[in-house]
Amino acid sequence: MAPLPITQESEQKLFFHNYARLPIAVTHGEGVWLVGDDGARYLDMIAGIGVNALGYGDKRLAEAISAQAAKLIHASNLFMMQPQFELAEKLLALSGLSKVFFANSGTEAIEAAIKMARKWAGQFGNPYKKEVFSLSNCFHGRTYGAMSLTAKPQYVNGFEPLLAGTGMINFNDINDLEEQVSDNTAAVFVEVVQGEGGIHRISQPFIDRLKELREQYNFLIVADDIQAGCGRTGTFFSYTQLNADPDLVCLAKPLGGGLPLSAVIGSEKVANVLSYGNHGTTFGGNPVACAAGIAMIDAIHDDQLMENAETIGSFIRDEVKKLAIKHPQIIDIRQYGLMIGITVDKEAKYYAGKALEKHLLINATSVNVIRLLPPLTISREEAQHCITTLDEIFTEETAAEKSC
Ligand SMILES: Cc1ncc(COP(=O)(O)O)c(C=O)c1O
Repeated sequence: MAPLPITQESEQKLFFHNYARLPIAVTHGEGVWLVGDDGARYLDMIAGIGVNALGYGDKRLAEAISAQAAKLIHASNLFMMQPQFELAEKLLALSGLSKVFFANSGTEAIEAAIKMARKWAGQFGNPYKKEVFSLSNCFHGRTYGAMSLTAKPQYVNGFEPLLAGTGMINFNDINDLEEQVSDNTAAVFVEVVQGEGGIHRISQPFIDRLKELREQYNFLIVADDIQAGCGRTGTFFSYTQLNADPDLVCLAKPLGGGLPLSAVIGSEKVANVLSYGNHGTTFGGNPVACAAGIAMIDAIHDDQLMENAETIGSFIRDEVKKLAIKHPQIIDIRQYGLMIGITVDKEAKYYAGKALEKHLLINATSVNVIRLLPPLTISREEAQHCITTLDEIFTEETAAEKSC
């Protein structure tokens, strides 16, 4: 039987209908450019949804992966493996924290953190100290625990009942925070910069009050740095910019250089929370993914990509502000390194469609926000190409409306 062609019709036949895939089949990439099977090149401002921090075709990454794959692809956590140790040491040195647990995806890191928080809270003799909070508008993943902490109804509806003992605090609402947390709180999960929620950063007063309440009620602060971490916002961890001082930190997305890898990093306070068999995963901390993670972190430092994230991110922000003067469709821009949200006056997917026609890949999130998460390697010229294309799109839209 001949294989099906790589088309949207075949996709509908083969797969569950949970992804709205773009109508292009991609074969490879070069730097910030993703290439289709027809040879068309796309400027990629999505980067595998914030995964491809080094862009496409980074030789160091490919070499680290192939060298490790030639030695050992998998052995499981029954054994000690050098790449896991080296990556754990790097993460502990970068964070100043005490212990690492490796898993495969963002949502698994969140699940592990929920379990750790509840087990940790169990030692204080209060049987009700089980409550786990997140913030409105947040996204933490799609497995049951992570989904129960996720705000958007479209990810949750139809899957109830959710995990008991989870609740939501209004984003940046200090009164609501004070009302909801108590001695029964085990943990509060925060995305310091909300990604899916439309690129919004927690306020400094909110974080400061959260830390005070942690002292009062003895709970954990968990930083979900899955999208905002690994250098994207200009520092390795986004939470250091607000001095959030979390007890647990979740990383994923770029951590494995494009291979599935996530981590939970914990402070001394939680260092002994897990005992043998409490938690685990067959693939977590796979040695090839860890070797890729080491190469990725080294490249971020060697190539000064955090500095580049801040420089190019600020450039994009300034240029979009200039565009906003002539295009009333642009309502607002929020920029934290290369995590950028542009609020527009209609559904952002309209602009994502127009951009695709011009071979620019941008992503719509939170209905009317264009999200830009380019590789941290993006140059000023490539960023300018994105700005010029957006300018064309808004100009053509206005011209079309006038001619109607
Ligand atoms: C902040 C945040 N947390 C958790 C997740 C879930 O990660 P994954 O899709 O790897 O399960 C995501 C994914 O977009 C995310 O952005």
